[in-house]
Amino acid sequence: MSKDAVSIHGIWASRWVFILAATGSAVGLGNIWKFPYMTGVYGGGAFVLVYLICICLIGLPVMLAETLLGRRGRQSPVNTLKTLSRYSNASSAWSWAAVMGMTGALLILSFYSVVAGWALDYIVGMVRGEFAGIDGDGAGQRFGSLVSDPVRLTVWHTLFMLLTGWVIARGVVAGLERTLRILMPMLFVLLVALLGYSLTTGHFMEGVRFLFEFDLAKVPDGILAAMGHAFFTLSVGVGSIMVFGAYMPRKASIGSTVLTVGLLDTVVALTAGMALFPVVFAAGLQPNEGPGLMFVTLPIAFGNIAGGNLFGVVFFVLVTVAAWSSAISMLEPAVAFWIERSGRSRVWVTSVIALLCWVVGLGTVLSFNVLADARFFVSDADGWHLFRWTSEGGMTFFESIDYLTSRIMLPLGGLLFVLFAGWVLDRDVFRDELALKYRRLFPLIYSLLRYVAPAGILIILVTELTK
Ligand code: PHE
Ligand code: NA
Repeated sequence: MSKDAVSIHGIWASRWVFILAATGSAVGLGNIWKFPYMTGVYGGGAFVLVYLICICLIGLPVMLAETLLGRRGRQSPVNTLKTLSRYSNASSAWSWAAVMGMTGALLILSFYSVVAGWALDYIVGMVRGEFAGIDGDGAGQRFGSLVSDPVRLTVWHTLFMLLTGWVIARGVVAGLERTLRILMPMLFVLLVALLGYSLTTGHFMEGVRFLFEFDLAKVPDGILAAMGHAFFTLSVGVGSIMVFGAYMPRKASIGSTVLTVGLLDTVVALTAGMALFPVVFAAGLQPNEGPGLMFVTLPIAFGNIAGGNLFGVVFFVLVTVAAWSSAISMLEPAVAFWIERSGRSRVWVTSVIALLCWVVGLGTVLSFNVLADARFFVSDADGWHLFRWTSEGGMTFFESIDYLTSRIMLPLGGLLFVLFAGWVLDRDVFRDELALKYRRLFPLIYSLLRYVAPAGILIILVTELTK
């Protein structure tokens, strides 16, 4: 594998475009929607602490491995691993790690699109002024009536999937840069503005304490969830970052790039948490609200500030954009792979795969209403069942997909990627591709990759699967 190979899918204009694309991928619903509600469900600070540790010791090394492998391989993740394993005299079975990742990314997209659809629905709600002066009960009802309506959910899910497919069909390079350069900073500014509102609720410190004060006794329960979320939020373990790495110019430094992306992602998640929880407490809501958390609390904030409607519209547009730039990165690995494999046009390949995701997404749509009692992995009085009709226990379709991807597929994919980069890829190739400015850091980074990250993932995964 020559280091001068080029990608047939295009190349970013500069290192900055990779940072934009990777940050666009990383910053999304995971930060603004999922991180706060998971923190609520898992009881606050302990979860956040484990999450931050997982980002540093596991998430960033995996991101580094993916970026590096992608840039060396210059193809879709599957073919990148195939080529690099051949070059390293290793079994091409390694490429199955990318097949699993690619599948995981599509499964995530199937529910991600539904949730992004909620944001679209809220744009309309804000435009109509539905939230003026709203309180906790009203906001809860507004959310409830949305998710109980399968037709409304399907309409938004369809629209979002079309938006995603459209960008991918046109090619990732065109359009992405211009959009993200303007919109990502705007999203951040608005989050900070919301933080300003949460300061006025009188419950700001309560929110901060909830986020950062930890009770060690609570840690065990949150560990598995926190690691899964670290993968999810950084978009690693599925090949999304690897495929973007394949379009990264030669000269860019991988180490500092990865750090930048990880830092931005973390800052956005923590800002979202600090903006949301004070509102939760001020409105007398429970932090363990679940997936509805952001969609219930934010309207309260917007409904009670001057100009709230306008800000609300802008905010949900930005959330949609953040979700959009993440969604395209879920679709790209599979699309790139299938183009390489079949030689068919990007438009055709994208249409087929997006349609497939759309169909699976209908399962998530229905899991909030008509099929809410269709539960998987149920254990009740008479044992364990893969599937059961019940209103208690087990996981809905949405919860099952979320669980399978975040808790199992992403960590497993990430494990295989770091193992490949650390143990299969030639050490000199690795060093050459990394091209560190501060050479002395090399042993540190290399041992994070070879030992710390794999051991950490393995321990948590095994605990999960044997629990
Ligand atoms: N990182 C994205 C988020 O936080 C989600 C994502 C997961 C994107 C996996 C790509 C791949 O919203
Ligand atoms: Na994220």
